[in-house]
Amino acid sequence: MKNVVSKQWLWLMVLMAVLSSCSQGGRRYKIGVSQCSEDIWRDKQNAEMRMAAYLHNNVELRFAAAYDSDARQVQQIDSLVATGIDLLIVAPNQIATISPAIDRAYEKGLPVIVFERKTSSQKYTAFMSADNYEMGRVMGEHIARRLQGRGRVMEVMGLKGSSPAIERHKGFMDALALYPDIDVVATLQGDWTEQSAIKAIQEYSGNVENIDFVFGQNDRMAIGARKALTAINPSSSTCYCGIDGLPGEDGGIQLVCDSILDATYIYPTHGDQLLQMAVDILDGKPFEKEVRLMSALVTQENAKVLLMQNEEIVRQTEYLDQLHTLADNYLHQLDTQRLVNLLAIALVVLLGVVALMLYRYHRQKIKLHEERTKMEREQLDFYTQAAHELRTPLTLISGPLDQLAQADDIQHLPKESADLLAIVRRNTANLSQLVNKILDVQTGHSTDGLTSHQIDEMVVSKAKEEDSDPMATQGELTADADAPTLLVVDDNADIRTYLKTILSKRYKLLEAADGQEGLRLAKEQVPDLIVSDVMMPVMNGLEFCQQIKRDFITSHIPVILLTARALSKHQIEGYESGADAYITKPFLPELLMARISNLLKSRHQLHDLWTGGSKDQKKEEVTQPMKEDAFILRFKAVMEEKMDDSNLSVEDLGTALHLSRVQLYRKVKAITGCSPVDLLRKARLAEALRLLAETNLSVSEIAYKVGFTSPSYFTKCFKDEYGKVPGEARMT
Ligand code: FRU
Repeated sequence: MKNVVSKQWLWLMVLMAVLSSCSQGGRRYKIGVSQCSEDIWRDKQNAEMRMAAYLHNNVELRFAAAYDSDARQVQQIDSLVATGIDLLIVAPNQIATISPAIDRAYEKGLPVIVFERKTSSQKYTAFMSADNYEMGRVMGEHIARRLQGRGRVMEVMGLKGSSPAIERHKGFMDALALYPDIDVVATLQGDWTEQSAIKAIQEYSGNVENIDFVFGQNDRMAIGARKALTAINPSSSTCYCGIDGLPGEDGGIQLVCDSILDATYIYPTHGDQLLQMAVDILDGKPFEKEVRLMSALVTQENAKVLLMQNEEIVRQTEYLDQLHTLADNYLHQLDTQRLVNLLAIALVVLLGVVALMLYRYHRQKIKLHEERTKMEREQLDFYTQAAHELRTPLTLISGPLDQLAQADDIQHLPKESADLLAIVRRNTANLSQLVNKILDVQTGHSTDGLTSHQIDEMVVSKAKEEDSDPMATQGELTADADAPTLLVVDDNADIRTYLKTILSKRYKLLEAADGQEGLRLAKEQVPDLIVSDVMMPVMNGLEFCQQIKRDFITSHIPVILLTARALSKHQIEGYESGADAYITKPFLPELLMARISNLLKSRHQLHDLWTGGSKDQKKEEVTQPMKEDAFILRFKAVMEEKMDDSNLSVEDLGTALHLSRVQLYRKVKAITGCSPVDLLRKARLAEALRLLAETNLSVSEIAYKVGFTSPSYFTKCFKDEYGKVPGEARMT
């Protein structure tokens, strides 16, 4: 049972695993993003990466911002790697300081994308950025163009040591070197923040009057410089240029549009492109190792158009975002639905398993019950057999002993022998009781607290009261020619011999060793009564009894079953097979005699079929024969049909009923107490009596009509039967 359960659980778990693996899809990617700072440019880029990740539902992004601190960024990179990311995207704060952390990640086998700012190491998988040198150069040319080659210019640089600051400066200076009349009056140091530019200008000791152009290396620093210089000289006409060109309210494009900045340069964020590159690398798809992002200058001429385009992009993005939220909801619902389905399947499987287990348990229970019942039956059979084996010899000891004790010459025995005989008798009785008790306990039955021996004694004492023949005279009787015939059927020859010693004094005996032989004898000889054992070879007593009761010839014969099968259940079986009495071994001979005597006495109930009842019974009772309907009706019909045939013989009747002379004689005698000849005469006389009463026919006519050949013989017989002559019968 335990095995069955564990096997079924195993199946269930395998099924769940298969189902859940089906629902998971491909490999999940964890991508770490290490940003050197946090500002609107970085926010935009991060947002673009998040958007792009929506397209890949197997991508998980982990962001970290170092707030322009080298140490913090190094620590953040190490932590991201430790969390088990699959790829690192990094914008290093400065060229040299962050390289060791990037190298460590790369050396662990992690793909690394360096973007926007450079590292001093070559240990990266790919690099993506716009051309910062070109930006500085374009911005230098723009200013030179606006100043028509003459004027005073100031530059505020980004964080010292960061690659864009170095490259933008170089490009800017290279462009202005072509214009000797343009004077770069100062190159101040900022750190990409607005505040750093304000501070740099405030701390600048040189002359800030008549500065025509300020190039802030990003828009925020350009605004900071503007604020600082305007504070010093509110009426100054200085122009400001920056880099980043972000869209949105506070972005550089709007500032150009509002003439706060003269120009800016779009520094592309392209977070979506960055994420796609990461996924391609993780998917093992081909990718470009160095990607240069294209960009453009924003001036008064194109700022408005760019703003409009940006607004459109924002609108589309919002729309996409809504679509995504919607899709996300659907996906969520789908996930829930899938989970519900999985749970439902699991539940069905579980219920199936439970049902199967219950079914098996139920079947096992039935099997166990059947096995137990079979065992009990076998046990019962064994004890029944044992009872038979024990009770039969006991019967053969106790019976003869009882007879010996009742014999006349017992008085002549020496006292010692008589005492010994008494001891043997007492102990035989004890042994009988003991055997009964043991068998009753073993089979779980009790004969209502009495041993069968005790019951036998009770019955026999009652039978003795009823029996007119005193048992004491039994020994003197011998069976005469008219004595009833008994058929004894038992496979045990000793039992048959013993029964013979008991019964032969009063009855003529026939013997058979099994049911089949018994049946043959019974049909042939039609005995008055049958005493049969139950457990016999060839045909047992129950089958035998049924056959006797079923057969037309023998059906009237009383059957006594004499057996060691003492249980109530066995007795019921016996009576159901049609037995008239059931006596258990060991038995008292007196009990058997009493039963036989009673059964023989009550068999002649139908002796007067035509004259209205038996000698002692009323007509209503006799005209309702119980078991003999078929035989009696046929017998009567044949007799009535052939009544006027004076030559009708017993043989003729037998032939009509398909019975031999002996069979007919015994059957009729047993049922009615009369011979067939007597019965035929009684039938003729009964018909004559009816004709005398109901017709005007003369006595002679009636005599011939009912089959008498001589009216005088008819008159004699009539008088014998009814005690008066026919003439007298007519007058009354
Ligand atoms: C954003 C930013 C930009 C600048 C770039 C240089 O963090 O400061 O304003 O263009 O970084 O790396």
